[in-house]
Amino acid sequence: MVGREFFVSDNVAVCLELIDDGEGIAQATEILRAGGTVALPSETVYGLGADATNASAVSKIFTAKNRPASHPLIIHIENIESARSFSNDFNVVAETLGSSFWPGPLTLLVKRSSKVIDEITGGRETVALRVPAHETFQKVLHAFSQVGSGAIAAPSANKYGSVSPTTAQHVLSDMGNHIDAVLDGGNCVVGIESTIVDCTVNPPAILRQGAITLELVNSALRHTGAVATEEFTGESRAPGMKLSHYAPLASVKLFENKVALSSYEEHCALNKISFVTILGSEDREIYARELYSMLRDADASQPTEILVLLPEPSDIGVAIRDRLFKAAAPR
Ligand code: TXA
Ligand code: MG
Repeated sequence: MVGREFFVSDNVAVCLELIDDGEGIAQATEILRAGGTVALPSETVYGLGADATNASAVSKIFTAKNRPASHPLIIHIENIESARSFSNDFNVVAETLGSSFWPGPLTLLVKRSSKVIDEITGGRETVALRVPAHETFQKVLHAFSQVGSGAIAAPSANKYGSVSPTTAQHVLSDMGNHIDAVLDGGNCVVGIESTIVDCTVNPPAILRQGAITLELVNSALRHTGAVATEEFTGESRAPGMKLSHYAPLASVKLFENKVALSSYEEHCALNKISFVTILGSEDREIYARELYSMLRDADASQPTEILVLLPEPSDIGVAIRDRLFKAAAPR
C-alpha cells in the first residue's frame, strides 16, 4: 500500500480523500486490488467502485449503499475488447453502439459470460457494461487491469434512492463513513447517469435515458437494420428505474413554463409555504450538469417544496425530465 493505511472491513470508518494525481490513482488501484471500495469520478456521476470479480468486495457496495442485493450493478471496463469477454453474445447492436459511443455515457445490457459473478447481476442472465470516458476513471481501469481483474463494479455513489453525486463532496457527505476512499476528479461534466440500452431484445430498448439520446442511438444503428425504441411496457428489467428515485427530502413540483411557476410561487408566498425555485440553465447540457447539485443545494435549506422549471423535451432534456419526474413522484 502506497502511503497511508486504509481499512477494508473494519468498523472503524476512515475514508481517504485522494487527489487525481499519479499517487492517488495508485492508491485507488491498490484499494480495489485489496478488495476495498473507492468512489471514482466518471463523466456522468461518481460511482462507488469495487473489484467486479470479487464477491466479497461487491457485497461491500450493497452494504455501503443500503441497496437490495437483487439490484444489479454495471461493470466498468477499459475498452470494448474487455467488454466482449464479459458477454457470450456481444451482438451486432452491442458492437455498433460500443464502437460508436465508448468511451462515453452509454451502458449496454448484453448476455453475460461465465466471467460474470451472480452477485453483480442478482442472478440475471444479462450484464450491464460501460467503458467510461473520464480520464481518471480510465487511468484507474488501466492500472487495475495490470494488477487485478480490470473490471470495476460501480453504481452511483449515493445512498439507495437518493440523488446521485456529481462532486467528491457529495460522495463524502452521503457515504464518507461507509467507504474506503474517494478519488476527487472534479465535477462530473455530463451530470446525469448513462443511457442504458438493452441489446438482448428485438428491437433494442432504451431502459434509461441519458446524454446518448434515442436519435443518436438510431443514427449509429442505421446500417444494422435495427431500430431502437423507448417503448417499455413489461415489468421493469432494470430495477432502480422505479418511480420515486433520485429524490431529495423536500417535495418536488414541476412546471412546464414560467407563468405557471410564478403563479405557484405567489400561492406559496400567500400561504407561507417555504420553497426554493430551480430554473435550470437554458443550455440543456449545463442544466444536466448542474441538476443534482441544484437539487442538493435546494434541499439543504430544508424548504417544504422545491419548484422546478422543466427543460424542453429535446436532446438531453428528455433525460433531465425523466429524472425530475422520478424526483417528483409520490414516495
Ligand atoms: O452513469 C452511470 O451509469 C453511473 C456511473 C457510475 O457509471 N452508474 C449508475 O449505476 O448509474 P446505478 O447502479 O446507479 O444504475 C444502474 C442501473 C440500475 O437501475 C440497475 O438496475 C440497471 O442499471 N442494471 C444493471 N445491470 C442490469 C441488468 N443485468 N439488468 C437490468 N438492469 C440492470
Ligand atoms: Mg443510482
